[in-house]
Amino acid sequence: MLERMPAAPTDALLTASNLRKTYPDPGGEVVALQGFSYTFPAGQITAIMGPSGSGKTTLLNLLAGLDTPTSGTVRLGGEVISALPENARAEVRLRRFGFVFQSYNLVAVLNAWQNVAFPMGLADVGAAERKARALALLKRFGLERRAHHLPHKLSGGERQRVSVARALANDPAVIFADEPTGNLDSKSGRVVIAALREAAQEGRTVILVTHDLRLVDEVDGVLELADGVLERVRPTKRRAQPVGAP
Ligand SMILES: Nc1ncnc2c1ncn2[C@@H]1O[C@H](COP(=O)(O)OP(=O)(O)OP(=O)(O)O)[C@@H](O)[C@H]1O
Ligand SMILES: [Mg+2]
Repeated sequence: MLERMPAAPTDALLTASNLRKTYPDPGGEVVALQGFSYTFPAGQITAIMGPSGSGKTTLLNLLAGLDTPTSGTVRLGGEVISALPENARAEVRLRRFGFVFQSYNLVAVLNAWQNVAFPMGLADVGAAERKARALALLKRFGLERRAHHLPHKLSGGERQRVSVARALANDPAVIFADEPTGNLDSKSGRVVIAALREAAQEGRTVILVTHDLRLVDEVDGVLELADGVLERVRPTKRRAQPVGAP
């Protein structure tokens, strides 16, 4: 069992206000995102969708504090995190955010439990607690018999469930998942989404970038980006009501 309580919903509230991001370009500047405002509902999975070049990665990087906006703010639980210096943003990413990537990004020479324990080590969790919590997280996702396997001995779906366990290692408020089902067949993809669903049910905010239309009815809301602008916020079949105004 994790010893800490799940993140309280108010601590997990991620709010973007009037985000704008431009990149320098020889022919002027590229406006990758403009006028983006949204409060991501805690306890839900929100998908960011849109054509190639519409600004999805730019937006995810700004929300996750991997990059800073040209103007506008990102707040987590009321605190403006987008204006923090890089070392403070790195702390926020380590302790308050979890990340799941399309290509898993597991450390090849560490086995499954060591991968899950890795971010706990960076957060100064003691060795015995690291191992116990990592094993508990793996068990939760049906991977207790894979705990001592290296990533290359695991299927894609298993690797991605290890990634979700790792994303939960430091009990994050928000999980960012960039195309988490991009390399998976639909059955493995559904299992990974179910794992993210469990994380959301604990009050966390889950934000997913995807091209995968099969996922539309598995998430709670969809933000549609086009040319760097939030065009539409659409509830899915899971939600009768709109999930929030832009
Ligand atoms: N580092 C950069 N320098 C210059 N322009 C960039 C940079 N990163 C992104 N862009 C431009 O910003 C716009 C948005 O790009 P972004 O990568 O956010 O789109 P995306 O929706 O993630 O696309 P894809 O679905 O192909 O991943 C595009 O016009 C892109 O060319
Ligand atoms: Mg992208």
